[in-house]
Amino acid sequence: MINIAIDGPSGAGKSTVSRAVAKMLGYIYIDTGAMYRTLAYKALKLGIDISSETDRVDAMLSDTVLDIRHAEDGQHMFADGEDVTAFIRTPAVSMGASAISAIPAVRSWLLEMQRSFARENNCIMDGRDIGTVVLPDAGVKIFLTASSEARAKRRFDELKEKGEDVTFEAVLSDMIKRDEDDTNRACAPLAAAEDAVIVDSGDITFEQTVDKIIEIINNKVGR
Ligand code: DC
Repeated sequence: MINIAIDGPSGAGKSTVSRAVAKMLGYIYIDTGAMYRTLAYKALKLGIDISSETDRVDAMLSDTVLDIRHAEDGQHMFADGEDVTAFIRTPAVSMGASAISAIPAVRSWLLEMQRSFARENNCIMDGRDIGTVVLPDAGVKIFLTASSEARAKRRFDELKEKGEDVTFEAVLSDMIKRDEDDTNRACAPLAAAEDAVIVDSGDITFEQTVDKIIEIINNKVGR
């Protein structure tokens, strides 16, 4: 199987770019951030204070069935049979996902599921630790990044388009806080693998980013 790891900070365009590249190559796209988001959504719904009630998060895991299904309109996330895809992109769930992803038991709970997708499919998997921890033998590793301002601007535009009541300043400060938390956590922090190719999406268009990544993949796996 050919596995492509795409890591990077929030808002660098990983998911839209990965989805487009996967479609062009006929690979499946796995958005691992959505897995953390789904667990955070469930924890918040149960009233769990994720940062302080790690034991309640642990207990929740043993009582959770997480499922990913691929449909025409992309990846759908299910928690205990409920399609939660529409609810996992809010600012509260984003912060909750960052907090829940720092819990080692959560990361190991998801690890085998993530690896089994990669064993069974040619796939593009995006996240924070795919090239470093989840798929250290991935054939291609890309670290997609951009300045925090460029990423916050993109996320702000997306949230506004969805009708969310947010300010640019709040989105930027959330982004900086999440970057810090994701980079500084002890377990599987956000990091570029030593053999990753760094791509900066800040000054180039979406199409140029996709073209650049396709070129990197073609050079590496000789399509
Ligand atoms: O990519 P995203 O914004 O949907 O990810 C949500 C959170 O999940 C993010 O704060 C970091 C965390 N995450 C992670 O720790 N490891 C991954 N492989 C993917 C996401």
